[in-house]
Amino acid sequence: MSTRIACIAANWKMYKTVDEAVEFVKRLTEKIDTLEDREVVIAPPFTALYPLKDLVSPSWLSLSAQNCFWEEKGAYTGEISPVMLKDVGCSYTIVGHSERRQYFGEKNEDINKKLKALIKVGIRPIFCVGERLEEREAGKTFEVIKSQIDGGLDGLDSVDVAKVVIAYEPVWAIGTGKTASPQQAQEVHAFIREHLAMLTNKSVANEIRILYGGSVKPNNADSLMSENDIDGALVGGASLEVDSFLRIVRFEA
Ligand code: 13P
Repeated sequence: MSTRIACIAANWKMYKTVDEAVEFVKRLTEKIDTLEDREVVIAPPFTALYPLKDLVSPSWLSLSAQNCFWEEKGAYTGEISPVMLKDVGCSYTIVGHSERRQYFGEKNEDINKKLKALIKVGIRPIFCVGERLEEREAGKTFEVIKSQIDGGLDGLDSVDVAKVVIAYEPVWAIGTGKTASPQQAQEVHAFIREHLAMLTNKSVANEIRILYGGSVKPNNADSLMSENDIDGALVGGASLEVDSFLRIVRFEA
């Protein structure tokens, strides 16, 4: 039996000022009394992390950054280290989002260094993988996912891999309104879990949470979350409004 607790994570990307972020989290925590079988993660822009530190006190709620650098400190203008993220209350950090890969040229090797740096300070990485449309159409989905996972997790032992949350986000589904069908997503999630079992062992692979991201909305969250290997969601657009995010948090599988 797996003990995977569902995780619904809000990736706000480059949206929300400090006031807007604080207002959102206050409203969310007013509306949710407690959650037993799932956790909620909020990933605001860097500027809103510290102001949210004390507001994410309920046990079901955690804070995440959207990116980090791999060095601890130094002359790296504009960068933020895992130690600094820990300092402002982050328990998670998103790594390798396709927008980082696409617009900022992040490579698997960079992502690997970030994963290691985060694990070293006790922050759980939310490690994103996903194929582009042309890769899917060329029948290369599994190949792409495998190489992203192998590159990202390179050199991590089973104990460390167990600390990682994977997010499968097909690039063609992000911000497009085109969600992967539950079956399409499940097929890739099952592949990822099998591959993780090869890299570690069955019991570790069975405990790792694999989130789906890409146009998750109130009207498709239930069916996605009903699939065996879908353990949560990484939500962009629909996480910006309390009511739509709340509906996703309250998914029924
Ligand atoms: P959307 O939910 O807006 O498609 O974004 C998904 C995403 O990129 C989450 O990280």
